Amino acid sequence: MHDESEAQITANALRSLENVQNPRLKRIMTSLITHLHAFVRDVELTEAEWFQGIQFLTRTGQMCDDRRQEFILLSDTLGVSMLVDAINHRTNGVATASTVLGPFYREGAAELPYGASISKDGRGEPAVLTGRVLSTDGTPIAGAVLDVWEANEQGLYEQQDPNQPEMNLRGRFRTDEEGRYKIVAIKPVSYSIPDDGPVGQMLRALGRHPYRPAHIHFIVSAPGHRSLVTHLFVEGDPYLESDVVFGTKESLVVPFVLNESAEEAAQHGIKAPFWTVHYDFVLMPA
Ligand code: BEZ
Ligand code: FE
Repeated sequence: MHDESEAQITANALRSLENVQNPRLKRIMTSLITHLHAFVRDVELTEAEWFQGIQFLTRTGQMCDDRRQEFILLSDTLGVSMLVDAINHRTNGVATASTVLGPFYREGAAELPYGASISKDGRGEPAVLTGRVLSTDGTPIAGAVLDVWEANEQGLYEQQDPNQPEMNLRGRFRTDEEGRYKIVAIKPVSYSIPDDGPVGQMLRALGRHPYRPAHIHFIVSAPGHRSLVTHLFVEGDPYLESDVVFGTKESLVVPFVLNESAEEAAQHGIKAPFWTVHYDFVLMPA
């Protein structure tokens, strides 16, 4: 039936889903059409605005390749990534909180020995990260894997920067028999997400800055436990309250403490001064 009323258009679009066999797909598409139509009605979208939206999404897709994922950036900067993360990783405050994966993770980082450095060029201020990986009942987990990555002292990940060695500032570490880890990294700095594409244009149009507070990324995994995707943030960072991707959580903010002892630095295979961070990761049983 081709009734001309606006409500009938929505009803027709929903009726087109009648024969969808997959119940989950049917639920998602029903909700998507319902909310998209409600949005168009709510703002009384003009044809020019509709076309601007189409062009924006087209440019977003055209910006994507194997080094740049503009759609994830769009999801991140609209708070969608953090919402999906929150719905899928409810920790009830017992396990370590999760946060966004971000677009800069790379699989295949080398497994490094206890206490090794992830810096391949020796730049940046060294930071010694120590702690344990525990289960929610407090039992230390031996052989847990910590996959770590961070941007360099200029706020660039190695795949963004031709001047960094391949896989710089990435590594995989295993906890010892008492669940302990030790990683030599660098003190992270706050940095701008890539803002030379449509997402950057959107941020400027909205009067938003493109910065993330300084952080180090981790994926922590162990048999019998849910993998944890998270960061540790640097206490005192000016962008903690206004992270452009809404990824900051108070429980993940840690103090970086300066240590000026040359003797202790030598024990870690680095030069003083250096920063120290201590944090225990707590994983949920699967
Ligand atoms: C990151 O922390 O690497 C990141 C997360 C979301 C968007 C851009 C970068
Ligand atoms: Fe990051």
